[in-house]
Amino acid sequence: PHPSALSLSPSSLSVDMVGLQRQIDELAAFSDTPAPSVTRILYSEKDVLARSYIKSLMEEAGLSVREDAVGNIFGRWNGAEAGLAAVATGSHIDAIPYSGKYDGVVGVLGALEAMRVLRRSGFQPRRSLEVIMFTSEEPTRFGISCLGSRLLAGIEAVANALKHVVDGQNNSFFDAAKGAGYDVHQEDLSNMFLTKESYSAFLELHIEQGPILEQEGVSIGIVTAIAAPASIKVEFEGNGGHAGAVLMPARNDAGLAAAELALAVEKHVMESGSIDTVGTVGILELHPGAINSIPSKSHLEIDTRDIDEKRRNTVIEKIQQSATRIAKARGVKLSQFEIVNQDPPALCEGSIINAMEVASQHLNLTHKLMISRAYHDSLFMARVSPMGMIFIPCYKGYSHKPEEYASIEDIANGVKVLALTLAKLSLD
Ligand code: GLV
Ligand code: MN
Ligand code: MN
Ligand code: MN
Repeated sequence: PHPSALSLSPSSLSVDMVGLQRQIDELAAFSDTPAPSVTRILYSEKDVLARSYIKSLMEEAGLSVREDAVGNIFGRWNGAEAGLAAVATGSHIDAIPYSGKYDGVVGVLGALEAMRVLRRSGFQPRRSLEVIMFTSEEPTRFGISCLGSRLLAGIEAVANALKHVVDGQNNSFFDAAKGAGYDVHQEDLSNMFLTKESYSAFLELHIEQGPILEQEGVSIGIVTAIAAPASIKVEFEGNGGHAGAVLMPARNDAGLAAAELALAVEKHVMESGSIDTVGTVGILELHPGAINSIPSKSHLEIDTRDIDEKRRNTVIEKIQQSATRIAKARGVKLSQFEIVNQDPPALCEGSIINAMEVASQHLNLTHKLMISRAYHDSLFMARVSPMGMIFIPCYKGYSHKPEEYASIEDIANGVKVLALTLAKLSLD
């Protein structure tokens, strides 16, 4: 007979809030932009320093640390029955340009604190417990989101895409990885693919990145599903020319084609009629980028999402039709229309949702079921493991900007629900 996780009394679960806040602040200092903003891009010098910081925290917590070919980092606490599939939890620490210090970080440092909480309580895991720090959840450098978790999920298309991708400075993925100390080769990527026997459950703690929990004064969000994201790269090419000398009727302006497509994205999203459909043109670049030169090339990157995959796909089709129509009308070439990813939504596992609800009740914390409008590594871990997510409130729902904030009390609540759920699943 195994001890029940619920015999862990709420008072035996003590989160070291001072220590956890200090770690969040220390990690935030590894940034390429000044505080309060955080910028930590895949395989940059700051990313490498942040990775060492995480590995040393894992070691201090008594976990055995392993790193895979692309730098996903795993810290394991061996259970009494270490041959069983482990229970894993984690998130990412990369940060998009000028973002904040909580997105992802709460799910990595919080997971490590959950391990320490359980150790301090005297808990002995049956299944091993593992903390995972995923490589490049954010698509900033190579345009591929959830790079590490997609590979773990065995998505061949990503392994193939990594052969060709380059960053803004024309560095290949493999060169960038090598620069960060990862001598990764193409064949290593498929060796990373996990089987469904690796984990019996995967959990992720994350700030909500939306306003609902704070507005409603609820402590814990328990995610039921993650919305379906897609991203698209578009390029238009025209003849360019002198901004004074080429008269308006003679122009084919690639910049105006991009501007028109950006507005079409908004229009097609609104046409869905649902508040759940969103679309963003977050990147819009003009070449050569001189005030007195007609843009000869334009580049857009479009993000569109919905909780309804079919409706999201309809938006993508309409965007493609508009791109073709605009190119024709403006006499420019649509030289690229690439759907970089078009992911289906993921459902959280009923038994994990249930365990999280029980844990919240046990801890006397209010909770509500909700969907995740942001994507997470969990979207892909769900392909190889039963998955569940815990949200905590964040200030005004702010995220992906420097004003992002979550109180240490709210983070500690999330850590406790995580710890109790990990304990429960470890004994299952
Ligand atoms: C997460 O960063 C997302 O873009 O949803
Ligand atoms: Mn993010
Ligand atoms: Mn995140
Ligand atoms: Mn992200």
